[in-house]
Amino acid sequence: MSKLQVAILISGRGSNMESLATACAEESFPAAVCVVVSNRPEAEGVEKAASFGIDTAIVDHTRFDSKAAFEEALIAVLERHGTELICLAGFMRVLSEGFVKGFPQQILNIHPSLLPAFPGLHVQRKAIDHGVRYSGCTVHFVVPEVDAGPIVMQAVVPVEQDDSEDGLAARILEQEHLIYPEAVKLFAEGRLHIEGRRVHISNGEGD
Ligand code: GRF
Repeated sequence: MSKLQVAILISGRGSNMESLATACAEESFPAAVCVVVSNRPEAEGVEKAASFGIDTAIVDHTRFDSKAAFEEALIAVLERHGTELICLAGFMRVLSEGFVKGFPQQILNIHPSLLPAFPGLHVQRKAIDHGVRYSGCTVHFVVPEVDAGPIVMQAVVPVEQDDSEDGLAARILEQEHLIYPEAVKLFAEGRLHIEGRRVHISNGEGD
């Protein structure tokens, strides 16, 4: 059976990209990475992707006059590689409503908190400052509103009494690396069904 073609969009370190690429490299995994695209030429993740033998592309947002022109270039790369699913993995640009609607229910994101708590940036700091006992990470479908789409999967991470932002981020990241490939696998198997805000996961046996 042919594998689902996944494009991964990054802006930096690319550790989630690596976890997805590692899963996709397994013969039995139902998805393959068709391209890794970075909006930042110096992103560490670009070299990491190349070391997997994955096609890479740079679409540098600073080189375009408008967001529309940037996204047009991005779409051209995605289409050229036969993209069927887009995984945002530390991609630090907010995609326009037009872009998101152009790939309906075909964009996933990973966020380092238990959404809907702490959307946006610096979320581990916010979780510690708020005094929550548990944080974690969320894989969700992307909708035009940032960090607000239907939730596919979450993992819970306890916040320790004397936690640092970096310590909590590192423990959450370990979980991110587990749930993102799992979510992509379910997507590739056609087992994710969006019903309003909720995502129903079918058992894969025709339920
Ligand atoms: C991760 O914490 C992810 O949840 C967030 O940005 C970070 C990206 O890290 N969206 P990496 O580039 O995947 O290492």
